[in-house]
Amino acid sequence: MNDRADFVVPDITTRKNVGLSHDRVDFTLPQPLERYTAADHATWATLYRRQSEMLPGRACDEFLEGLERLGVDADRVPDFAKLNEQLMAATGWRIVAVPGLIPDDVFFEHLANRRFPVTWWLREPHQLDYLQEPDVFHDLFGHVPLLINPVFADYLEAYGKGGMKAKALGALPLLARLYWYTVEFGLINTPKGMRIYGAGIVSSKGESVYCLDSASPNRVGFDLERIMRTRYRIDTFQRTYFVIDSFQQLFDATAPDFAPLYARLAEAPTLGAGDIAAEDKVFNVGDRSGWGDSEDV
Ligand SMILES: [Fe+2]
Repeated sequence: MNDRADFVVPDITTRKNVGLSHDRVDFTLPQPLERYTAADHATWATLYRRQSEMLPGRACDEFLEGLERLGVDADRVPDFAKLNEQLMAATGWRIVAVPGLIPDDVFFEHLANRRFPVTWWLREPHQLDYLQEPDVFHDLFGHVPLLINPVFADYLEAYGKGGMKAKALGALPLLARLYWYTVEFGLINTPKGMRIYGAGIVSSKGESVYCLDSASPNRVGFDLERIMRTRYRIDTFQRTYFVIDSFQQLFDATAPDFAPLYARLAEAPTLGAGDIAAEDKVFNVGDRSGWGDSEDV
């Protein structure tokens, strides 16, 4: 999701989409399978191998089960149509190919209709560890496995519906923090220990280790209002991770109408990405090692 007013289309997005056109209204295009090169498939295989080797014992069982049940290819960029057969049968969700980041209202409309927009192109070999914008590895490997979980699938549909309302109420920055700290960078407390479910983490080699093993970040219990007050970092690993007890908790906590909450928070002070609040249910307070002074969003 692109919630930044100053966002400009990155060069790689423009370059990858030369000669392709997308639907003017919903931004979808047929997945251009013929554009994937042998090098792209090799890059996918490398990314898939290093994440799938690392994630057992780190990612939550629901994510790992989803990866398995969807039959996400290990050795080549998956064919979206094939993957959709499994996904639609499981939860009625499907993925649609898009050129890259799409406008917020188009993104919400897709989610509200159980369609997950997936950037069709893949990063280049020199970007294995980091790229600014989402690609097919982040969008598909990171986000899609959990869509096979019925409760998470319902949460994301509700988020899309909530996005349309938030836009009308001028509250998108508040709602974007919820997406950031759950869908992208969420942790879940399980009987087996703390696990990852956020797509931004499971698709990142470095953050998959850092988020659970490093002493630097805070780990704090999920609290909707707290999250909506908390700024975040787009340029570093997270300074605070919010931990849910279950996907049901996430769904239930976000079910009520947010309008009164938005009204209350409009004038409330925000918290920095690394702050701890008095009311926090703290799993651990980070030792802040390695933190610089640059600005939170
Ligand atoms: Fe994402």
